[in-house]
Amino acid sequence: MRDAGRLAAATLDMIAQEIRPGVASRRLDALAETFIRDHGAVPAPLGYRGYPFATCMSPNQVVCHGMPDERPLAEGDILKVDVTVKLDGWHGDSCRTFAVGAIDPERTRLLQTTRTALALGLEAVRPGGWLSAIGRAIQGHVEAQGYAVVRSYCGHGIGREFHQPPQVLHHLDLARDVELRPGMFFTIEPMVNTGGHATIRLEDGWTVVTADGGLSAQFEHTVGVTETGVEVFTLSPAG
Ligand code: MF3
Ligand code: CO
Ligand code: CO
Repeated sequence: MRDAGRLAAATLDMIAQEIRPGVASRRLDALAETFIRDHGAVPAPLGYRGYPFATCMSPNQVVCHGMPDERPLAEGDILKVDVTVKLDGWHGDSCRTFAVGAIDPERTRLLQTTRTALALGLEAVRPGGWLSAIGRAIQGHVEAQGYAVVRSYCGHGIGREFHQPPQVLHHLDLARDVELRPGMFFTIEPMVNTGGHATIRLEDGWTVVTADGGLSAQFEHTVGVTETGVEVFTLSPAG
């Protein structure tokens, strides 16, 4: 899990150097696939339930599962890049929201709020604690900032499988709680909307957008519960 997580993060570090106005997300997807394969891994999304690309590329009002396309990115866009690698049978899954060139202050605040929401979710992980503490911490911060947490998509157990139980909700739901124990692996990946939390899936069967056309940001880490707290497998090697 450490090796897979590090490779997913290194892929995002590489993509960070390539994002600029004028670049198409299809180009970024191709670069990511080459990088992942050059490091002895495979891109887990490719062929997953028929998904046709190596990564998910979700600009602006796209919440998640956006498909790479040929549109040149424009100054002021935000772009979620979600990378999942499978290395020696183990999965590392991480997403970051990037600014394309200079972005306006409200978009900067959205990104910062989402980054902090993930950090608070990580802090809520401890052995003997509860999965619900993660959603409580994330929802509390996001709503205090005047934003909404997406409810129709969530984090997930991960390991030899890409997606496995439990569902890691980013809002409080005590009805579906799980006690955290050392050795559990899962993702935390809050999606935060400037408007309401509702989402719509487009006719292509994949692309998920905000129902009200608001912007959406996401950060994701793959983590393990340890004897004393949490280990984040997808920390950026570049810092
Ligand atoms: N990486 C996404 C997640 O965080 C899942 C993408 S599934 C795909 O769980 F098929 F769209 F790639
Ligand atoms: Co995930
Ligand atoms: Co992901």
